[in-house]
Amino acid sequence: MKRYNDYHQELILILDFGSQYTQLIARKVRELGVYCEIYPYNHSMDAMKAMNPRGIILSGGPASINEKNAPLCDKGVFDLGVPVLGICYGLQLLSRVFGGKVEKAPKREFGKAHLYVGTKDKFLDGIKDGDIVWMSHSDKVLTMPRGFVTLARSDNSPHAAIRNKEATIYGVQFHPEVHHTPKGKRILKNFLYKICRLKGLFSPKSFVELATEKIREESQGEKVICALSGGVDSSVVAALIHRAIGDNLQCIFVNNGVLRKNEAEEVIAAYREVLHLNLKYVNAEDRFLKALKGIKDPERKRKVIGRLFIKIFEEEAGRNGSARFLAQGTLYPDVIESVSAKGPSATIKSHHNVGGLPKRMKMKLIEPLRELFKDEVRIVGRELGVPENIVNRQPFPGPGLAIRIIGDVNRERLEILKEADSIIRQEVEHNPAFKHIWQSFAILIPVKTVGVMGDERTYANVIALRVVESEDAMTADWARLPYATLDTTARRIINEVPGVNRVVYDISSKPPSTIEWE
Ligand code: XMP
Repeated sequence: MKRYNDYHQELILILDFGSQYTQLIARKVRELGVYCEIYPYNHSMDAMKAMNPRGIILSGGPASINEKNAPLCDKGVFDLGVPVLGICYGLQLLSRVFGGKVEKAPKREFGKAHLYVGTKDKFLDGIKDGDIVWMSHSDKVLTMPRGFVTLARSDNSPHAAIRNKEATIYGVQFHPEVHHTPKGKRILKNFLYKICRLKGLFSPKSFVELATEKIREESQGEKVICALSGGVDSSVVAALIHRAIGDNLQCIFVNNGVLRKNEAEEVIAAYREVLHLNLKYVNAEDRFLKALKGIKDPERKRKVIGRLFIKIFEEEAGRNGSARFLAQGTLYPDVIESVSAKGPSATIKSHHNVGGLPKRMKMKLIEPLRELFKDEVRIVGRELGVPENIVNRQPFPGPGLAIRIIGDVNRERLEILKEADSIIRQEVEHNPAFKHIWQSFAILIPVKTVGVMGDERTYANVIALRVVESEDAMTADWARLPYATLDTTARRIINEVPGVNRVVYDISSKPPSTIEWE
């Protein structure tokens, strides 16, 4: 299969030694207009050569280079004749390879430090004495590697930036990729443009052009089927493929009855009227609610919904003749996780909604976003005219409101949750002041409490509000919403939603809690 880079002349390879910042390096490089890909540190030399990179970045990592099993990359990396930049552990590694000495620093250097430039070099253009850099290490270079000079020192690191006298091999002890290094992006830019001499050919616009070409080539004039969920990934996939092959893309949107209030109507309007997609709408609310009847266990809810979705999708796809291709919204972090499965950045992915589909249906996958990060998908979406309400949509789980109704899922309880949820959407998700919020939603708890409305005693439902901040859903913190927002939201829910007389706010973080309640 052709990869994005095959259409592209400028590739930076990032070798991952397990730093929590590796993906950040990649995002910064791409923001600077250069296409890059991440591979495990021990990626084979032949594979790297075949990709014809224009530069290599060695990431940081938690190991010490002096450990017995310290992760090492192929030394051939330094003989490829392209510039190399080692960051933190990457610097320590290249120091060792070239005969320097790395030792445990008496004091761990963590946080802000000042940089002092000793030797002028294009790499540090624009950097002044005293500029702040972010450190996070306990090993440091004690004796310089052979053939290297020190470009800058910091308060505690005598060799905070170094370079090889002859080859374009650079190392920095600090992290230019994090925003705590205010001029870090400038340093990366110097590396890409002045050291690697790149032009900066990568942009969301260029991505759209190249991806269009690639989709046309891959789909070979055949039909492609795409399951739409209303979420940003599947919507951008559909918009992109539609741009490439028009109505040869058949989209299917299944309403499983556990969507948020008005969600089906809103997204269908956007798909049909704005994006002009060839869309089949399947209203399967009744089938899903029937299948969910009496099921309380969350994992069973997930299974029942997942299976029924696949069944309906297969029925509908079959009705459209035999399409050979299935489009999916796989993103780059999923790809990195699978290639690094045994590597340092391995993480556990818990939710796959339509994972079983392609195999069962004997279809080939088309995954046009598999080289993009989420923020890039949003930019590409805007470029393609996907409406803001979809581009900015919060993540929403495949099993939908079914896992936010604790216990039995039935029409009456669904109605209560939809109304309460719609209020928190209006107050938080649609309020520009809370753009940074990762998810905000309501949960219906299977507990009734006593209240008083007018002179009447009530005995009604409790709604919990869950509002979290997060980077990637792996960890999350409860949002410190202003009291005024909490107050308005709670009052509105109690006044406007029949059957609710109490609202509580969830103040647990992940871990040890999870974002969803089920
Ligand atoms: P948790 O609850 O595990 O959620 O902290 C992490 C993220 O995943 C979403 N989530 C799901 N998404 N199918 C999905 O597509 C699911 O079964 C599912 N369960 C949780 C959740 O909304 C959060 O963004």
